[in-house]
Amino acid sequence: MSDEARWEQVDAYVAEKLLGPDEVLTAALADCAAAGMPAIQVPAAQGKLLNLLVRVHGARRVLEIGTLGGYSTIWLARGLPAGGRLDTLEIDPRWAEVARRNLDRAGLAGVAEVHLGPAVDTLATLTGPYDLVFIDADKPGNPAYLREALRLTRPGAVVVLDNVVRGGRVVDADSTEPSVVGTRAAYDLIAAEPRLDATALQTVGAKGYDGFVVALVS
Ligand code: SAH
Ligand code: DHB
Ligand code: MG
Repeated sequence: MSDEARWEQVDAYVAEKLLGPDEVLTAALADCAAAGMPAIQVPAAQGKLLNLLVRVHGARRVLEIGTLGGYSTIWLARGLPAGGRLDTLEIDPRWAEVARRNLDRAGLAGVAEVHLGPAVDTLATLTGPYDLVFIDADKPGNPAYLREALRLTRPGAVVVLDNVVRGGRVVDADSTEPSVVGTRAAYDLIAAEPRLDATALQTVGAKGYDGFVVALVS
């Protein structure tokens, strides 16, 4: 069996043992596919990690940059306590509409607000403070999103950045791939930023080889 096939099997095993069936998330993914979205949502096991981070932290306000169909949004918003709020930012009106429907079906329409527009424009209108920020939009925007995350958080907040390994291509210093260049710039910014203390977790699974940065704001 190939390594990739084994990663997928283990992903399915983890999902079956620890995540269980979930009609709302299954329906959300089906509607994403029906709308013609690329299947670039976080894997279920990482969606669950986002949910656990919200709960471990006791986060009450969450910011997500990059909504797509609201799949990761549902995982995050489900971790909030009563009265918690989530803002999620999406540039594509087709995806924002699907996300609103998916959040509505999940019973989260009153918890999670989808903001349509370029993230940099929406971010300029937000004041926070947020307890947890999940950055998962266009990768060239990552440095700008990290700077905004710092402006919109207080010490103790958590920042999570998706797609920080990109099949291992993140180590290619000569890469001209915009997502690799943007992600490497994000690493440089985090490394140079005294307010951020971070690590990265490499992940494999049904969506290949990638990873998350998890950072603590001080
Ligand atoms: N977080 C989602 C996946 C997001 S995919 C999940 O795991 O379920 C990245 C999303 O970022 C896409 O929907 C894309 O349209 C959006 N995006 C790309 N550039 C953007 C920008 N400049 N502002 C806001 N959203 C953007
Ligand atoms: C891709 C994956 C992502 O998780 C994302 O946020 C953007 C793009 C991709 O595989 O192309
Ligand atoms: Mg992503």
